[in-house]
Amino acid sequence: MLFLDFSVVIIIVLALSVNNIIVVHGQGTRVGFYSRTCPQAESIVRTTVQTHLKSDISLAAGLLRMHFHDCFVRGCDASVLISGAGTERTAGPNLGLKGYEVIDDAKAKLEAACPGVVSCADILALAARDSVVLSGGLSWFVPTGRRDGRVSLASEVGNLPGPTDSVAIQKQKFADKGLNIQDLVILAGGHTIGTTSCGLISNRLYNFTADGGPDPSINSSFLPQLQALCPQNSGGSTRVALDFGSQTRFDPSYFDNVRKGQGVLQSDQVLWSDASTKPFVQRYLGRMAFNVDFGKSMVKMSNIGVKIGVDGEIRTKCSAIN
Ligand SMILES: *[C@@H]1O[C@H](CO)[C@@H](O)[C@H](O)[C@H]1NC(C)=O
Ligand SMILES: *[C@@H]1O[C@H](CO)[C@@H](O)[C@H](O)[C@H]1NC(C)=O
Repeated sequence: MLFLDFSVVIIIVLALSVNNIIVVHGQGTRVGFYSRTCPQAESIVRTTVQTHLKSDISLAAGLLRMHFHDCFVRGCDASVLISGAGTERTAGPNLGLKGYEVIDDAKAKLEAACPGVVSCADILALAARDSVVLSGGLSWFVPTGRRDGRVSLASEVGNLPGPTDSVAIQKQKFADKGLNIQDLVILAGGHTIGTTSCGLISNRLYNFTADGGPDPSINSSFLPQLQALCPQNSGGSTRVALDFGSQTRFDPSYFDNVRKGQGVLQSDQVLWSDASTKPFVQRYLGRMAFNVDFGKSMVKMSNIGVKIGVDGEIRTKCSAIN
């Protein structure tokens, strides 16, 4: 069903994008960087992402998350894609990342069309945008021109926000990357698609409080549903939708869930109890403004620490430095 109305979504996106999307130039990146050197670059990425999402829509959240995890460690330089002992990819928070094969597929097609031109870091930024659009979100212009890094260290993933982080810690981690509280809440709204594992939430469901009870911020009618999905001591690999009831649709319903005590991760639910983040959750409740602002915060995030000009390299294979 998601793909039947895709052409309609595209038309709406085109109509809205003229008025609503602000073209933001990053630190040296720019929209249309490949317009002369590889004019088909963005369409190759889009059709590749579309093909993979048709067989597995959960890759949309995977690619969005992968881009985020790339940017928060060493900037958006595709360091997360490098494989080998001791790389970011082998670190705990990245073990659940998915969609590497989509990036590799797009890279192979781009190398065939325009050898040595399009960076893996740009492919990832474009694939994240396309994943949002293919899930029903609004489009935005992705400034390109990033180059790929040559270093990837598992020891550096501590910058990544974690599922049990307090608001204070989340704010600090975002501020360290030049992102404000509004960006934090908007980008958390990316949890409108995707799933998490029971292993990351079972601490909230059982024995959370001193007297052995669950996390009191969980809605009391939602709690039994989560407990049924994630029985105590059952192992943690079952997947649970982050945006309960709307896990494949890129929409503002995540904020309504957080309001109702139905945020799934602790780091999501605390956004409602904190006085600095709550007003932003309220701002996006039921509002398409979320979809517009999401693109703006994504452009900010995807310019974190970018390498441009003669910095870095254009990798031939995304999983290895040249
Ligand atoms: C609950 O947590 C406490 C403190 O962490 C621990 O001592 C206890 O064994 C836990 N109980 C169960 C049933 O897991
Ligand atoms: C708990 O969830 C139910 C069902 O979605 C909702 O009707 C109710 O308002 C929620 N409770 C609170 C305190 O938000």
